[in-house]
Amino acid sequence: MILLDGKKTSNDIKNEITAAVQEMKDKGEKVPHLAAIIVGNDGASLTYVGSKVRACERVGFESTLIKMPNTTSETELLKEIKKLNQNPEIDGFIVQLPLPKQIDTQKVLMAVDPDKDVDGFHPTNFGRMALDMSTFIPATPFGILELLERYNIETKGKHTVVIGRSHIVGRPMSILMGRKGFPGNSTVTLTHSQTKNITQITSQADIIISALGVPGFLKAEMVKDDAVIIDVGITRVPDESAAKGYYITGDVDFENVSKKVSAITPVPGGVGPMTIAMLLKNTLLARERHRVMSN
Ligand code: GUN
Repeated sequence: MILLDGKKTSNDIKNEITAAVQEMKDKGEKVPHLAAIIVGNDGASLTYVGSKVRACERVGFESTLIKMPNTTSETELLKEIKKLNQNPEIDGFIVQLPLPKQIDTQKVLMAVDPDKDVDGFHPTNFGRMALDMSTFIPATPFGILELLERYNIETKGKHTVVIGRSHIVGRPMSILMGRKGFPGNSTVTLTHSQTKNITQITSQADIIISALGVPGFLKAEMVKDDAVIIDVGITRVPDESAAKGYYITGDVDFENVSKKVSAITPVPGGVGPMTIAMLLKNTLLARERHRVMSN
């Protein structure tokens, strides 16, 4: 069984990005600048955004964190987005999700300039992705592709089953795994909450990508021998004995599933760290595009 080590792979990618930034500095060029807007004080979101900012520092990017209160109106947030769109110093930015109830998420994501949309959530970029055009691929799906590629996992002609149809992971993943090329060329089944007999489907899968957020959902009897398992779940389970008061767990019953599969991502240390590395990669790409456009 191969452990698909996202921590190590993301470190390799960050080292590659650090070297690219050093080259920019040596040439006297502007370094990439990522901004993040966070609205409210959701603990998990604050942790994720904090990790993104620290990752920027680690690779030598500039970063800006904009914290807005939970009571922020849609108009106020749209105004902040407009400023970032117009600021030539900013190469890319993200609006951390979820947003408070009073704000229409789709409206916000559509306000982001597609050229700065390093999350790849704007309909223009999502459409470009579906049409195999160059674009910003959403960071979590991009990270999964990168893991499959770097570990040379065969995807051609395989049956990939995606669990969960979220706009951030499941839906884009189902498109990407069916694209021509590597990783891709899979036959894809997208399963979700209305799927009947899910075990019948998962037990035929060569590759399972689970993005559900239900701890321990995928059990050994749902998986065939030698399958490849990608666990995108990150759920905080309250635990008084843990230093932080919770522990992180995935969608997969790792202890039992890992005994029968050919490759699996751990949680933590699998897909999670890859997401941040690929956000950096998209920001590097955004800087490169802006440099070319301004020449
Ligand atoms: N919330 C959970 N995942 C993500 C992500 O990849 N980007 C943003 N902006 N918010 C998220």
